[in-house]
Amino acid sequence: METIKVVKTAHYVPSKVVTNDDLSKIMDTSDEWISSRTGIKQRHISIEENTSQLCTNVAEQLLEKSGWDAESIDLLIIATMSPDSYTPATAALVQGNIGAHKALAFDISAACSGFIYGLNVAEKFMVSSGSSCKRVMLIGGEVLSKVIDWTDRTTAVLFGDGAAGVLLEQNEEDSSCFVSSSLHTYGEQGDKLEAGKTDALSSFPTAGDHKIKAFSMSGRDVYKFATHKVPVSIEEAVEKAGLTLDQIDYFVLHQANSRIVTQIAKRLDQSLAKFPMNIAKYGNTSAASVPLLLDELVSNKAIKRGQIIAMSGFGGGLTVGTQIIKY
Ligand code: ACO
Repeated sequence: METIKVVKTAHYVPSKVVTNDDLSKIMDTSDEWISSRTGIKQRHISIEENTSQLCTNVAEQLLEKSGWDAESIDLLIIATMSPDSYTPATAALVQGNIGAHKALAFDISAACSGFIYGLNVAEKFMVSSGSSCKRVMLIGGEVLSKVIDWTDRTTAVLFGDGAAGVLLEQNEEDSSCFVSSSLHTYGEQGDKLEAGKTDALSSFPTAGDHKIKAFSMSGRDVYKFATHKVPVSIEEAVEKAGLTLDQIDYFVLHQANSRIVTQIAKRLDQSLAKFPMNIAKYGNTSAASVPLLLDELVSNKAIKRGQIIAMSGFGGGLTVGTQIIKY
């Protein structure tokens, strides 16, 4: 039986760091408000590097770490809610940048659940395509700073830019890293979190008429959604796997707000020590946040081969997703 393994992980964040104190100089906010409500202390903000560039940096690191030739990649997926453009897909740009000429490349739009949805799609592609899809590169990347209204303190303080990803490979070993998953979309709540919204105009627009709207979010509704739906999604995936919550070594959750993570740990009756966080350094990086945390945990050897990891994302859509892997 063909099985799949997470071969390498990598991340990249732009060099410019913006602290809460920096933000308090340009808007009516404070380090005390931001850190006590969210756990965020700073974020990395991109100056001139677009999403495809952050993702290309991650892609190059993944190739270097693995020693793989770019031409050996069969599928390249980018999860993003802040693509460079409507078309071409950011994945197509990255494919061209690294010379992965054989790879089929497309984007997934599922906001902060994007990386988890991407894992699911990658697994299904690999299983159904057999030997024609053996090597997959999956990256979550965002330049959210370009879609934020920097005069809106209720959203501007929450987000950061970054990219992170994994290489997946079919191998001959006897157990797949993919254990079970649970994904849900709640489209009727789509208006609770929007970015890049466009209007269908009554006239025939010409250059200059086209406008896209900045990020907007009903924070309280998303908070309620996350603290209710993420535990359900984790429990569903754990049950499907025939595991118990106690058998999960780490819960690698989307980093939107440390209070959300704490609340989810409480609802699942699991020790907060099993819920690592890095939101203080990066803020909410949407589709990049789960792989960014995964890469840090793998790099500092907190996560070891054979451990059971539950990864969950939630956000725009509204979407929620959990993927359990045996790392
Ligand atoms: N600095 C200072 N004061 C602020 C700020 C700020 N940056 N932002 C809001 N306030 C004020 C508000 O104006 C309000 O003042 P008022 O009481 O005088 O009206 C007060 O603080 C409380 O505001 P709330 O919005 O009620 O604050 P809340 O406690 O709900 O926290 C937060 C807001 C942090 C956004 C929280 O609701 C949250 O984390 N929600 C979840 C967001 C999330 O998880 N998003 C993830 C999805 S992201 C994705 O998919 C891309």
